[in-house]
Amino acid sequence: MKITLSVIKADIGGYVGHSDSHPFVLAKADECLAKAQGEGLLIDYHVTKCGDDLQLIMTHQQGEDNEKIHKLAWDTFVEGTQVARDLKLYGAGQDLLSDAFSGNVKGMGPGVAEMEFEERVSEPVIIFMADKTSAGAWNMPLYKMFADPFNTIGLVIAPNMHTGFAFEVHDVKEHKKIILNAPEEIYDLLAFIGAPSRYAVKAVYQRETNEIAAVSSTQRLSFIAGRYVGKDDPVCVVRSQSQFPAVGEVLEPFTLPLLVEGWMRGSHHGPLMPVAIEDATPTRFDGPPRVAALGFQLADGKLVGPRDMFKDKSFDNARQQANDVADFLRRHGPFEPHRLPLEEMEYTTMSQVVKKLARRFTDLE
Ligand code: F6R
Ligand code: MG
Ligand code: MG
Repeated sequence: MKITLSVIKADIGGYVGHSDSHPFVLAKADECLAKAQGEGLLIDYHVTKCGDDLQLIMTHQQGEDNEKIHKLAWDTFVEGTQVARDLKLYGAGQDLLSDAFSGNVKGMGPGVAEMEFEERVSEPVIIFMADKTSAGAWNMPLYKMFADPFNTIGLVIAPNMHTGFAFEVHDVKEHKKIILNAPEEIYDLLAFIGAPSRYAVKAVYQRETNEIAAVSSTQRLSFIAGRYVGKDDPVCVVRSQSQFPAVGEVLEPFTLPLLVEGWMRGSHHGPLMPVAIEDATPTRFDGPPRVAALGFQLADGKLVGPRDMFKDKSFDNARQQANDVADFLRRHGPFEPHRLPLEEMEYTTMSQVVKKLARRFTDLE
């Protein structure tokens, strides 16, 4: 049975500030998606949040980039925005960059990760959601899951994974893409994805079968809007077990609270802390950045779950380490490398300050 799993998300209002989502907004989204399920458009859905981002997890048989599904998501965000406005939540409608829907939410603000596949006899999927960071945050975790035998022993000892995986990498500035094969091209791959502010892994494929293994949201809001409008707060869907990495191999990369961009005003590097959904509430200095992971088993498109994967005690050390790194970085205040490098600051509000002072600069003798 061919199933499409669509995760579409947007920040349509924060509670309080940019730290969390209001339950009334989630309730409205649930109402909208229940209606669509009742009408047969969706097989199943799960509404959740990661920080100030509303997450719509949906299964259906309409395929990727389907207008009806994207319109459903858009309309849900519009209705949720109305609730956010009534409560005067912070930044109501923040990620809806256009006034009217025109066929597809891509390029309009919301983040999208979708994949269509033949549901296996048993189909475990993990949905990662991050707040206060951008799409490139998945680069290192995806590399470790699908190309690093020190993380994924299955690459070495499981015959159905031994051929390796292909990485589709997007240049988010130039709007170009390239496919690179692991293991033979890992040095080329790393040359690009080691620069996550520009290159982001969009998808991963199993090379033997060309089956989709993982997909992420890759748009950069600031490039769409031409100004700073908040971080992308990306999502990523990963299929697991059998010919794909085991659940434990998929989660293992997050035991390192890797440094990502996006903390406070989208202008700082900070550690990506793996947390349960209830702890995805970036509060200290609007952070540190969070990642949550919900696991589901699919049953004819039904979402059996979720299991809140990072709730597990084995991620306590990563959280502790993230807090220690956060303390260390915060002591740098406005200095790099806590603050983003200048080139990246162009896409924040700092450019307005620089413009204001431009005339006060005089030539050196
Ligand atoms: C980071 C983020 C927050 C805001 C900050 C200022 O992605 O969302 O750190 O940038 O709270 O927000 P404004 O400018 O809306 O007051
Ligand atoms: Mg926000
Ligand atoms: Mg957010």
